[in-house]
Amino acid sequence: MTLSTLLCLAIFLFPQIQADEVFFVNDVEYDSGFYGNYPIQRYKSTQVTSPRVNILQSSPECSNDLLTMITQRGWSVAEPSATILDHDGHLVWTVGGYNQVYNLMVQEYQGDQYLTFWAGDDTVGGHGAGYYYMLDTSYRQVAKVAAANGLSGDLHDFQITENGTALITVYDIITANLTALGKPENGDLWECRAQEIDLATGKLIFEWRALEHYSITDTYRDIGDDGVTGRAFDFFHMNSIDKDDKGNYLVSSRYMHSVTYISGATGQIIWVLGGKRNMFTDLSEGEATNFAYQHDARWTENDTVVSLFNNAIDDAHPDLAPYTRGMRIKLDQEKMTAELIGEYINPHQIKTVSQGSFQNLPNGNVFMGYGATAAFTEYSSNGTALCDAHYGPQFLYGTGNVQSYRAYKFEWHGFPLTNPDIAILPDDEGNWKVYTSWNGATEVFAWILQGASDPEVAEDDWEDLESITKIGFETSFQIYELYPRYMRIVAVNKENLVLGMSNPLDGVVEKVPLCFTRPNPRFISNGRRFGACLPLNSTTTNHAHWKS
Ligand SMILES: *[C@@H]1O[C@H](CO)[C@@H](O)[C@H](O)[C@H]1NC(C)=O
Ligand SMILES: *[C@@H]1O[C@H](CO)[C@@H](O)[C@H](O)[C@H]1NC(C)=O
Ligand SMILES: *[C@@H]1O[C@H](CO)[C@@H](O)[C@H](O)[C@H]1NC(C)=O
Ligand SMILES: *[C@@H]1O[C@H](CO)[C@@H](O)[C@H](O)[C@H]1NC(C)=O
Ligand SMILES: *[C@@H]1O[C@H](CO)[C@@H](O)[C@H](O)[C@H]1NC(C)=O
Repeated sequence: MTLSTLLCLAIFLFPQIQADEVFFVNDVEYDSGFYGNYPIQRYKSTQVTSPRVNILQSSPECSNDLLTMITQRGWSVAEPSATILDHDGHLVWTVGGYNQVYNLMVQEYQGDQYLTFWAGDDTVGGHGAGYYYMLDTSYRQVAKVAAANGLSGDLHDFQITENGTALITVYDIITANLTALGKPENGDLWECRAQEIDLATGKLIFEWRALEHYSITDTYRDIGDDGVTGRAFDFFHMNSIDKDDKGNYLVSSRYMHSVTYISGATGQIIWVLGGKRNMFTDLSEGEATNFAYQHDARWTENDTVVSLFNNAIDDAHPDLAPYTRGMRIKLDQEKMTAELIGEYINPHQIKTVSQGSFQNLPNGNVFMGYGATAAFTEYSSNGTALCDAHYGPQFLYGTGNVQSYRAYKFEWHGFPLTNPDIAILPDDEGNWKVYTSWNGATEVFAWILQGASDPEVAEDDWEDLESITKIGFETSFQIYELYPRYMRIVAVNKENLVLGMSNPLDGVVEKVPLCFTRPNPRFISNGRRFGACLPLNSTTTNHAHWKS
């Protein structure tokens, strides 16, 4: 009997087993904290971990071919990370090692796709001091972008335009006359700037400063003990910038409850939607303009509709509204009317005091990340919730335990320069297995386990032992008796082209019991032609025959 015949039998008798634990489906205990404050998936072949999601709702109508991008952090998250998950919550890519990470996206620059995110210090009062990073499809850092004028780049936005520029938010402390709010004439104020910078040169192309156009009394933020030296008052809190085909800017201000449309030519305000300076007639009985503490305001539908994530509450006003909602607001800029044409409310009526995102997906669906609340939801354009997932337990919502500034969905194709990771270890039952994964490799269709008696043999002498179609992040292969001493993993794509290859592992060095024997007539005469490696605790384990 040839080895390959044995393998066919083996594959037939032992179903393919994935190493990823299953994600949770509508698990009440997950949300009550039974599995911990932040259930994570660990792997055998790599040290990286990923959140285990609780999938409350799923649908074939969701954009299941797109990948979900989050930047998880919070009290229970050991290492703030940028993470890509597939629609089942399986890990695709993750990276840590930054101080804090926010706003993972896929963006195009000069015709190529990049992963972009912000990283830096987020303890400077609700915003950040850091840089914007761009990784190419091989996960090489190709750019670390700074704000212009020597200022720190803020975490809230980094939008690359079709013209190779980036729109960023910048916060800096200035001295301002705060007497109108009962504070000193020379109080400290967090000024907000919208900057457009040329990515190739770092040159500032456009800058807009909030205090030149808004009064401090337009704010909804209570000044409290702020506004004195050493305690700058965050009156505006700019959190998104968009630019339309006319070259004008759309700026969202959390504390003004407003979206401001700004002339790219003059920097003057063209109009204000929402807040104390709202200029629109509300055709929806107030529902189109009553948003508060909102995030992520974007033009959509040919710049005729503004979409946004309406938190509706903040930390100081948690009971202002019963729930957070996504909104699509149709604007007539001639008649100056605003009409609510889409509303997106989580089935669990989540309300979130901070952060959050609203994304118009290519198929017309809407994807929302709930910011300080560890949830993301995909909606049909008519507002029906289609897919709903938690990446942290619901009983801790509102505590900042697990959060992600935004959550987005994008198409992404990653080709890491690393090799697939491989480990030989016993599973929970003591069966020895080869485990493999490859952080960031999106195109792997199947893994092939190969074996050789000598790692230096010619390529052709590596024998295919078993092939498993990739599902999930980590895949495991049962190790059978008769397998050669050296093993490695080859990753192939749909066309069966080799994408990468692990280093070979030596079964002797890995101390695999009994598996690496030559064909043993005793087993055959016993009617045991093959079988799993014996458990570690087995008294019959005998290394002697391959120790020498
Ligand atoms: C500060 O603003 C108040 C009005 O709020 C004004 O009366 C006062 O003159 C201003 N002080 C200075 C130094 O401009
Ligand atoms: C890109 O440049 C073109 C030509 O100058 C201009 O018409 C367009 O508005 C610009 N787009 C953005 C997003 O800046
Ligand atoms: C946007 O404009 C283009 C060209 O003017 C048109 O083909 C398309 O249907 C418009 N899309 C929407 C959503 O209005
Ligand atoms: C809204 O969308 C859902 C999901 O696509 C669909 O099942 C439902 O019929 C739609 N409702 C209306 C009123 O169109
Ligand atoms: C030890 O081996 C026995 C029999 O193979 C198995 O049932 C048992 O679960 C093993 N115990 C451990 C701790 O692996």
